[in-house]
Amino acid sequence: MFINFWYVAAQSSEIIFGADRPRKVQMLGQKFALWRDTKGDIQCVSDVCSHRSGALGDGRIRGNCVECPYHGWTFDGEGNCVRLPSLGPDAKIPDRTRIDAYPVVEKYGLVHVFLGDLPEEERPPIIDIPECDDPEWRSIIYSDVWEIDYKRSVENTIDPAHNEFTHPTHGFLGMREDYKTEEFDLIDEEWGTGLRNRMFAPPLANQEMREASGKQEGTWINGGIGTFGPHCTWTHIDVNEKFQMHNFLLHTPIHETLDRWYLVATRSNLLDPRYDQTIAERSVYIASQDKYVLEPLNPKLTPRTAKYEFLVPADKAIARYREYCADWEAKGWRIDIDQLRADRDRIAYTIPSPARRKKKGWVLPAVPLIPGQEAKAEKAAG
Ligand code: FES
Ligand SMILES: [Fe+2]
Repeated sequence: MFINFWYVAAQSSEIIFGADRPRKVQMLGQKFALWRDTKGDIQCVSDVCSHRSGALGDGRIRGNCVECPYHGWTFDGEGNCVRLPSLGPDAKIPDRTRIDAYPVVEKYGLVHVFLGDLPEEERPPIIDIPECDDPEWRSIIYSDVWEIDYKRSVENTIDPAHNEFTHPTHGFLGMREDYKTEEFDLIDEEWGTGLRNRMFAPPLANQEMREASGKQEGTWINGGIGTFGPHCTWTHIDVNEKFQMHNFLLHTPIHETLDRWYLVATRSNLLDPRYDQTIAERSVYIASQDKYVLEPLNPKLTPRTAKYEFLVPADKAIARYREYCADWEAKGWRIDIDQLRADRDRIAYTIPSPARRKKKGWVLPAVPLIPGQEAKAEKAAG
């Protein structure tokens, strides 16, 4: 799991204006409280109260603030404690009571939270989904929770060889004697790798979708798959010029072996909302085929090297994705889950927020990170 990326905390519709209580969400193994302030803007703070560990996500919303259910300490959306009842109304509230608060952006009907301490100008962007703002396209959102390391799913999406066997909906279970994956070159971009390929696929099962595709027989389909950050993927299925399906999968690890994902499924045909159900059912069905192979993978955690695996050319994008992850690890962004697991139930950590770069003195420790290259060099230099 990596800090310093934007993660989806919820769908916009799940954070209700005027609610009495915040929404409690777990991401990257830590808990957070989210609510809408009096202007309707979403605020997100670390769930653990700096007093004696009360869960703010179980507290109450008071105006623009959240109130701890234990002794009523009240925090604004910046993480400042603005009321500390046991000291009385005129007391000066110590600065160190402050908790971490995180940047929030609502986009594509999703609530994106920046979980890290980078200043604004250095942050990776939110994945671009231009189809969502295009009136020629229609999009739907679907979400689920799977018992996997989210990276297993990212690697599955950029694996062109799994379609033939995992998905009888768009493969032939290896029944073709001449089956072989097409060769491909990787296209590397700043925040991820990808490839464009073509795939021989059976006709779509749903009659209306089949008619829209204009293909009644097995046919070659142009496509593309790729990653964005450690936790997002894109898939293009371009049946023809008029019928394209572009899917975006945004993963939010609840913890290292539990993945909440949000699928933004966009299409350039069958735009009438009455087709939403059909498209959603197809997505759910295909996802169930992936889930069938992914949840039993052993080990649960995605290997960090291929030492105990045997990669082949069709796994090229997966190997490259791991290199990107290694680069983010070298920046010092990878959470040390071994330490996290060792300290579970003893230490409440928090994801470091941007304010930690400016202010010293925080009650909760920041999550342990695997030392990046800079830290290692400093240590070596003594
Ligand atoms: S633990 Fe939150 S106010 Fe005491
Ligand atoms: Fe798949």
